Amino acid sequence: MHALARLALLSALISPALAVLPASAQDIAAGERSWNKCRACHQIGEGAKNLVGPQLNGLIGRHSGSVEGYSYSAANKSSGITWDEAVFAEYIKDPKAKIPGTKMIFPGIKNDKEILDLTAFLKQYDKDGKKL
Ligand code: HEC
Repeated sequence: MHALARLALLSALISPALAVLPASAQDIAAGERSWNKCRACHQIGEGAKNLVGPQLNGLIGRHSGSVEGYSYSAANKSSGITWDEAVFAEYIKDPKAKIPGTKMIFPGIKNDKEILDLTAFLKQYDKDGKKL
């Protein structure tokens, strides 16, 4: 078999396996680096406050526009989204495409692995900002 064909076969075998692997410490560390892109506007963890954007504790499972005391755009508030991992991945790739009219000014993260790592980082925090 050609080296290229072998490589293609190998990656076809490996990528579905990667998709079901639980988050590793490396993923979370990489996700924390990615989180630096969010920190100008968002906080997470115990005592996290709303800044330019709402705090992001317990995000996965949360309903869009539901943080107390944060003044969302109408677009976000009425988007009817519940943030599961798939919807979050779609959103963070291109926030304005997923929620037209959102006031989150962020170009998006295009790399799927980076999104998975960032999700692993975010998922550590429950709704009170405690690490699970
Ligand atoms: C320049 C500021 C800014 C940056 C950078 C930013 N955000 Fe936001 N984000 C916002 C604002 C403002 C909103 C509120 C949007 C609205 O009401 O339309 C928001 C909303 C959100 C929401 C919806 C929350 C909810 O309760 O419905 C998520 C999820 C989110 N941001 C995740 C992220 C992540 C993850 C990053 C980093 C990769 C990021 N944001 C980077 C400003 C920002």
